[in-house]
Amino acid sequence: MYILGIESSCDETAAAVVKDGTQVLSNVIASSAQEQNLYGGVVPEIASRRHIEHISTTVRQALEQAGLTMEEIDAVAVTFAPGLIGAVLVGVNFAKGLAYGAKKPLIPVHHLRGHIAALYLEYPDLKPPFLCMVASGGHSHIVRVEDYTKFEVLGRTVDDAAGEAFDKVSRTLGLGYPGGPAVSKAAQQGNPKAYKLPVPHVEGRYNVSFSGLKTAVLNVVNQAQMRGEEISVCDLAASFEHRITEILAEKLLLAAKDTHAPVVCLAGGVAANRLLRQQLEQGTQKLGIQLCMPALKYCGDNAAMIAAQGYYEYLAGNTAGFDLNGLATLPIDYQ
Ligand code: KG4
Ligand code: ZN
Repeated sequence: MYILGIESSCDETAAAVVKDGTQVLSNVIASSAQEQNLYGGVVPEIASRRHIEHISTTVRQALEQAGLTMEEIDAVAVTFAPGLIGAVLVGVNFAKGLAYGAKKPLIPVHHLRGHIAALYLEYPDLKPPFLCMVASGGHSHIVRVEDYTKFEVLGRTVDDAAGEAFDKVSRTLGLGYPGGPAVSKAAQQGNPKAYKLPVPHVEGRYNVSFSGLKTAVLNVVNQAQMRGEEISVCDLAASFEHRITEILAEKLLLAAKDTHAPVVCLAGGVAANRLLRQQLEQGTQKLGIQLCMPALKYCGDNAAMIAAQGYYEYLAGNTAGFDLNGLATLPIDYQ
C-alpha cells in the first residue's frame, strides 16, 4: 500500500511516499528554520506563509522521487494535530483537496504518533508493545505504546518540553534557532562539570520539569552580567546539555525498570541529541534491554513518519471525511 504523507505542524513543510508503513520511497522537506533563526524562534505567521508557498512543490517532488502518480497512491495521510494551528491547517486543507480530487482515502495522523512511527522505518521488525520517550519542541512524554494506535501516557513534562528548553537556553546563550543542535555543538567544546545546575523536583514518578533548569541558566548569565564577569558559553551549554539529557535518560530507564520493558525507544527532534543517545545506549546495555532510536534524518519533523503512522491508522479503520479539522492540541491517547 502506497501512502503519501504530508506534514506541516511547525516549520517544516514535508511530503513523503512510504510503502506498507516501512519502506520510504521519497522524503522531501522544505524548512523555514533558517528564516525563523532571524527571530530567535518560530514565528507562526511566517511558518504558515512558507507552508503555503512550499507545499505544492514539496508534494510534487515527493511523488516524482517515488516515481508514482496520484492515481498510483492508495491514500493521503496528514498531520492534523497537534501543532501551530495556522501551519497545521495548510497541510490539512492541501491533503483534503488532493484526496478529494484523486478520490483517495484521507487519513488523519497525530504528530506525536508519527514521531513514534519513525521507529518502524528504522526497525521494520519492531512491534508494540514497547516503551517510548517522545521528546520534541512541544512535548516530552514517556508513553507505553500498547498497539500501533493505542497509547498510554506514563509521564510528561509539567512545564517546558525538552526541545523548548534547548531552544530557550540557546537563545539565552546567543546561539540561535533551532537550539538543540546549536547548544550541542557549543557543548562539545565545553566542560559539563563547570556549572552546577539543579535537578528539578517534580511530582509524579515519570514526570519531568525543565522550567527551573532553563531559569538556572538564565540566572548564571544575568548574575555574571551584573558582576561584569564573562561566562563560558561552551561550559554552560555543556553543563545544561549534560543535566537535561541525564534527567531524560534516567526517567526513561526508571520507567523501563519499573515496567520490566524488554525494549525501550526514543523519538522526536531531541532524539537526535548525541549525548542522550549515548547515555541511553550505556543505560540500556547495563539493564540488558534493547534500545531503538530513529535514524537522525527521521528524528526531526518529516512526512515519512506521518505516512508510516498513516498506514497503521488506515489498518485500524481511522480515516476521515472531508470535514476534517486541524487541532492545535490533542492528547496522543485520543480515541
Ligand atoms: O520533533 P521536532 O522536529 O519538532 C516538534 O515536533 O517540535 O523537534 C524540534 C525540537 C527543537 O526544539 C530542537 O531544538 C530539538 O528538537 N532538537 C534537538 C536536537 N536537534 C533538534 N535537541 C537537542 N539536541 C539535538 N541534537
Ligand atoms: Zn515534531
